[in-house]
Amino acid sequence: MSIDHDSLVPVEDAAAHPVPNPGLEQHVPRYTDDDSAAAKRAYRQVVALFGLVPLLAIAFVVAYFAVPQDLWVPILGTVWPLNTLLLGLTGGLAVLLVGLGAVHWARQLMSDHEVVEERHSAASDAATRAAFVEKLNAGIADAGVSRRGMILGSLGGALGILAVPAIVSLADMGPWPTADLRAETIEKTLWTEGVVLCNDVNERPLRPEDLEIGQLVNGEPENLFDLEGAEYLRAKAKSAIVIVRMDPNTIKIPESRRDWHVGGILAYSKICTHVGCPISLWEQQTHHLLCPCHQSTFDLGNSGVVVFGPAARSLPQLPLKVNAEGYLVAQSDFTVPVGPSFFERDSRNDYKDGDR
Ligand code: FES
Repeated sequence: MSIDHDSLVPVEDAAAHPVPNPGLEQHVPRYTDDDSAAAKRAYRQVVALFGLVPLLAIAFVVAYFAVPQDLWVPILGTVWPLNTLLLGLTGGLAVLLVGLGAVHWARQLMSDHEVVEERHSAASDAATRAAFVEKLNAGIADAGVSRRGMILGSLGGALGILAVPAIVSLADMGPWPTADLRAETIEKTLWTEGVVLCNDVNERPLRPEDLEIGQLVNGEPENLFDLEGAEYLRAKAKSAIVIVRMDPNTIKIPESRRDWHVGGILAYSKICTHVGCPISLWEQQTHHLLCPCHQSTFDLGNSGVVVFGPAARSLPQLPLKVNAEGYLVAQSDFTVPVGPSFFERDSRNDYKDGDR
């Protein structure tokens, strides 16, 4: 693009030569301007587009309640959760139809005559306000809004009914998290006395001799493998652990956790206490476990305390022992909730550096 130097206006002359108004492009006659049958057809199309929105809103609500959340369907070689798929399709299509209807209405039926409103000071005088109202009424009459009551009615109804899926979706916030409910859900994992520790990769039960000093293994409770679908994923998200073996003479073991390890083998939650990323970046020499998300660093040789980063709580430790068959098993569930902090959480039992 080139600029004609002679057309540039010097700064001192700017007030005398305001920027010219580019205006609207010249009106191109539309088929609906001259053909009343075409205008009626466009009118019916707009009403039909808005009219489909309530049906989709109802379909959204039906899908929300009627389709189980753990039902998966194969599509294009991969599997999708049917409930989420239907909510996305019906909700997205409803909003799309509102947009399409509005665009179709504006392009085919509304007037595209340019209406100029000059700028005035903030407080207009009475004569100007009266002139504005007169101009506005003329514009409304020109756009045919008052004659197209069906369009306004269907648009109002379509936008109003879209509030229903939004309100229904609030149920996904879940039930009110009372102390009893938390104790049975987010504060409880599959670990309990006697549950065997298994290797996360090959799902085999672990014996102490399977781990060498300095080694870290990702682990899961044996009873996890009895579960399927969403239940499996939910349980795994809370139960995942890292199992490390260190020389017992090189680590700090507080009095209260003296019998929580088996010959230097310790188990910790794998879920970062910052915002819940899974962790297993292991620095063998320093005994530090590093979270890749925001670099929180936990000292597994000192009961999992935080030595760096934004995490505010130590990694929960799982008390271990060996069962009669020689496998590593849990002594109990974690003694504190795993995962990120939440505002109702009781932090009194969290381990802090220096606790006995
Ligand atoms: S989630 Fe681990 S540091 Fe943020």
